[in-house]
Amino acid sequence: MSEPMDRLAETLRRNSMVRFLDHFAQLFPDSHMKDLVVDELGPDRAMVVGGRRVVNFGSDSFLGLDQDPRVRAALGRGVAAWGSHNGSSRAFSSVRANVEAEDRLAGWLKTEAALIYPSVTLANMGAIPALVGRNDLLVVDEHAHNSIQEGAKIASANGARLARFANCDPEALDRVLGSAAPRRSTVVAVDGVFSMSGRLAPLAELNAVALRHGAVLYVDDAHATGTLGAKGRGTVLDALGSYDNALVVGSLSKAFSCFGGYVGCGAGMKELLKMKSSTFIFGGPVPPPYLEAILTVLDIVESDEYENLRDRLDSNVRLLTGGLTRLGLAVLGGLPPIVSVLVGEEADTLAAGRFLFDQGYYVQSVVFPAVPYHAGVLRIQANAVHTPGQILGLLDALASLRRVVALPGPESLSRTAA
Ligand SMILES: Cc1ncc(COP(=O)(O)O)c(C=O)c1O
Repeated sequence: MSEPMDRLAETLRRNSMVRFLDHFAQLFPDSHMKDLVVDELGPDRAMVVGGRRVVNFGSDSFLGLDQDPRVRAALGRGVAAWGSHNGSSRAFSSVRANVEAEDRLAGWLKTEAALIYPSVTLANMGAIPALVGRNDLLVVDEHAHNSIQEGAKIASANGARLARFANCDPEALDRVLGSAAPRRSTVVAVDGVFSMSGRLAPLAELNAVALRHGAVLYVDDAHATGTLGAKGRGTVLDALGSYDNALVVGSLSKAFSCFGGYVGCGAGMKELLKMKSSTFIFGGPVPPPYLEAILTVLDIVESDEYENLRDRLDSNVRLLTGGLTRLGLAVLGGLPPIVSVLVGEEADTLAAGRFLFDQGYYVQSVVFPAVPYHAGVLRIQANAVHTPGQILGLLDALASLRRVVALPGPESLSRTAA
């Protein structure tokens, strides 16, 4: 290794976040359980990790479409039609499947138009700096997803004024907007569903505040895409009744089990975003086979079958949330398929995850910096393909866990996760 390369690595090693994360990995080698390798996937969310077969309660493929034969076949059809990649930025050309997928997405969402980016992260990091720059104000929920925060940093570096408001608090938003100096445009960026807690943003109240101050709402609805709202369109249309004052971002990789993210917006706004989003212009697109798969998923979510899938998902979420509540645990979320159980101390949170894994259930044990310090959670993702028996088994394992790790009750919920 060259001397400058060694110096670079050494500098990174001294970074406080790297030291903190490394310290955790060293301190809890058995219970840390990050960076896992999955060797095999089976039906009903079975997976093999480190030689152990467990039920996976950590999948964002909420509707189970990742294993659907029609989606798999669509990928094959896409490879046959387009090859593995079309090898060009969309600024130059898009395959027909891309245009069709955007038109179909807009039709399903009931927006005028949709623009597909290679991921939600790249949508946020492209669209946010495209929307606000010098002379504009961007106000971000303090717990909004990392990709919104990163998009906000780029916008701020480009000259936008950046402010934050307390998580899901319309009055705090009102105060921030009320005390801001006059500006050209204002955008308020939030998550529709907060990804660690499963908490829903109070969109109607936030939008009323935004409108009063002449601001537009920007909602990252990644976890609600396909899982919440009428026909799975997410939280925005149900909460606001229209998209008149909101841009909606959705995921094509979570419930859709494909690849990519989109911004749902007006037709004129779509053309502006295409001209101003650097992640759209200077990066490659979603590979065409995945666009064919997105079209197949849209066939499914627009058919009567969707209600069936959604019933199974919703009933699994109810079974899980009801059971956790009856156990007297501190439960966050409960409407979306992300349900988090507060544990608290980092060591306890990691030990709890390990205990459940040893009982045959994988859930994500989430600690700082993804959630506040000493407010670690077990993040449980219910899927439509989980069987009721698997959920009851997980609840039994959690009941046993209480005998090993002291889990706080609902009164501790003020120490909430993001
Ligand atoms: C709210 C939110 N936005 C963005 C992302 C990132 O999505 P992607 O994997 O498509 O970049 C996530 C991922 O969990 C998320 O929860």
